[in-house]
Amino acid sequence: MRRPFVAANWKMHKTVQEAVAYARDFAPRVEAVRNVDIVIAPPFLALPALVEATANSRVLVAAQNVHTAPHGAFTGEVSLGMLQGSGVTLVIIGHSERRQLFGETDAGVNTKTRATIDAGLTPIVCVGETLEEREADRTFDVLDRQVRDGLAGLSAGQVAALVVAYEPVWAIGTGRNATPDQADEAHRHIRQQLASQFGDAAAACRVIYGGSVKPGNVAELSARPDVDGALVGGASLDPASFAEIVASSRPATV
Ligand code: PGA
Repeated sequence: MRRPFVAANWKMHKTVQEAVAYARDFAPRVEAVRNVDIVIAPPFLALPALVEATANSRVLVAAQNVHTAPHGAFTGEVSLGMLQGSGVTLVIIGHSERRQLFGETDAGVNTKTRATIDAGLTPIVCVGETLEEREADRTFDVLDRQVRDGLAGLSAGQVAALVVAYEPVWAIGTGRNATPDQADEAHRHIRQQLASQFGDAAAACRVIYGGSVKPGNVAELSARPDVDGALVGGASLDPASFAEIVASSRPATV
């Protein structure tokens, strides 16, 4: 049985002080929630403070990006060793905003995913089609390519332990979420692609949905058998709203 996984992606929101205030408000709200992995990904600057503020809670802390070199002349970048040293345990990789706005490729996603695993951190690997690709009936081709190339060379055991986030680009920040049927269909397809590459590991790998997840739609999305949780942007910025999403995201089978 796959354990539900719900992550907040704050993107470029919140100061260090705001992150700490959020953690104090949020952690008690989810204290009683069992059997769900709860993750927050703040901007780099707030990572150490958020790790400290959530130390005695059930909340894990993720970075939104990483550079794979251990150190060096890479202005503006942050290494895996730096994340580890700050108590960060997960990294979001290949978010569509990174792909679209910062030129990230499937090959780059693969390099980051492998390096993150080698460093002992858990990758949350994002995939998803644009509206244009969906309308041209290319959704499955795009997902297959992103999964195949993004996870190339990994072992089955490594894939079983990571998280894939299906985030249709047309649903991100638009208020227009995928319907449960659309999400289910895409998740099932991703799991088939995982199975063709990694066999039984596909059944263990969590595939979560992202794109305009809100307290009002998370229950019906995550009730679908292949939807193992959510990656939440806008609706995670308010602690009450994100706590409600966490509490509503457990599939009936758990
Ligand atoms: P959204 O963002 O929930 O604001 O649509 C999701 C994401 O980009 O991870």
